[in-house]
Amino acid sequence: MGNLEAIHQLKHLLPALPYPLASLEPHIDARTMMLHHDKHHASYVKKLNSSVEKYPELHERSAIWLLLNPGEIPEEERTAVCANAGGHVNHSMFWRAMSPDGFGEPAGALADAIKRDFGGLESFKTRFDEAGAKVFGSGWVWLARAQQDGGKLTVLTTSGHDNPLSQGHFPLLVNDVWEHAYYLKHENRRADYLKGWWSVVNWKEAARRFEISDLSPERRWETEGGLILRESR
Ligand SMILES: [Fe+2]
Repeated sequence: MGNLEAIHQLKHLLPALPYPLASLEPHIDARTMMLHHDKHHASYVKKLNSSVEKYPELHERSAIWLLLNPGEIPEEERTAVCANAGGHVNHSMFWRAMSPDGFGEPAGALADAIKRDFGGLESFKTRFDEAGAKVFGSGWVWLARAQQDGGKLTVLTTSGHDNPLSQGHFPLLVNDVWEHAYYLKHENRRADYLKGWWSVVNWKEAARRFEISDLSPERRWETEGGLILRESR
């Protein structure tokens, strides 16, 4: 009979892309998508699994829990676990933030909130593009909803693989502005990448996330944790 601890160890998994590699062309080319998902994201998942391996107390923790509880991670692996958990969580959100089907513009409650907090869709997009262009080095640009302050929408940027959840904001939409997301096609022209990206934004997913941002913290936690795939090993 094997060690029961080992049976309960959960492995973080690379989620499959929800669409074919070439389906976001011409805005994001298939080779960039292949390298980004199959190599970069895969490597964060692999490193996350290996960095928690020797800590049984972390084996059943979701990537989001690890990202939000750095104090619970042994100091010698804290930087690696947080960076790789963040890379895994952020990329998992990023793939779903896009779709070849477009979905045009936001609708319903999300559209109303964008109008209320930014004055309209175009001023929101301008704010998002300007913030994304200004990220120094590697990072992310987000549409997020404050978890207090009446649930106001805001544009945020994070560096490395930090996530707005750590700053009390719930992410609704995200774009990756690490060079690996755009350099093959756009080289140093990050602004072109940001502009073209709106054609592949999945507004349905952003609206879904807006809806779950209203759930109680416990329910929302379950919804988030369930989206980051794991399996027993
Ligand atoms: Fe990335």
